[in-house]
Amino acid sequence: MTRRVVLIGIGPGDPGQVTIEAIRAMNDVDFFVVTEKRRPGGDPLAAARAALLARHLIGDPKLVVVEDAERDRTVAGTATAAGYERAVTDWHAARAARYAAVLAEHDGDAGFLVWGDPALYDSTIRVLARVVDVVDATLAVVPGVSSLSALAARHRIVPHGIGEPLHITTGRRLPAAIAEGQSNIAVLLSRSLDELRAVEPAGWLIWWGANLGAPSERLAAGPLADTLRVIETARTAAKQEAGWVLDIYLLRRER
Ligand SMILES: C[S@@+](CC[C@H](N)C(=O)[O-])C[C@H]1O[C@@H](n2cnc3c(N)ncnc32)[C@H](O)[C@@H]1O
Repeated sequence: MTRRVVLIGIGPGDPGQVTIEAIRAMNDVDFFVVTEKRRPGGDPLAAARAALLARHLIGDPKLVVVEDAERDRTVAGTATAAGYERAVTDWHAARAARYAAVLAEHDGDAGFLVWGDPALYDSTIRVLARVVDVVDATLAVVPGVSSLSALAARHRIVPHGIGEPLHITTGRRLPAAIAEGQSNIAVLLSRSLDELRAVEPAGWLIWWGANLGAPSERLAAGPLADTLRVIETARTAAKQEAGWVLDIYLLRRER
């Protein structure tokens, strides 16, 4: 039988936000391939992932740890759109090669755990689609609760007005979204609050969340002009408490 590679969305961090389908998939695979970033003190998200597996897995997980490939994050290498795209493409190719090597060394069905939903700002599907061709395996994807769903739920909001479009983008592309007149902008992948500080705050409302679903979760909402300070303090506190910070926000033009 052809072996399976199963990509499992595990939600944004709260073990209670893992679906029954994901729990079944976790218990069905023979081992997990986990990618850890090389950092002093280890990968801080590894502990969150371990807690989640401990809650949902029957028996001890078999983890095959792959050190994440280096990615060009230099300003010189990534300042232009073409440079950024090249850096990401190279990084994906290096990740694909590492996954292919690991799968060649281990028999059985492999699980890959992906933060949130695998279809939102995550390239594991793209990377593994290449890998399964090389290692002769089938690819299955289990959806997860996204950080955007979690943000909307925590603030008890619909992220767009009735019948309006929702623009989902990255911190890097926030200025372009504002310039093109978007009114409901969800922003992921901010490396700092610099993009938000650069927004002319008059006329914008914000709903912000960091480390959603984790004990270090922080929330803030209100007019951007009044709320940015609160966000700055809360973001620093979340990072100090957890050792990591992931944040997401929705910006809406005031009617
Ligand atoms: C590589 S993207 C992955 C998104 C993920 N696939 C999802 O469905 O949410 C990482 C970004 O997702 C957002 N994110 C993920 N988990 C989060 C959390 N627990 N709290 C706040 N934002 C989170 C942050 O914007 C972070 O920079």
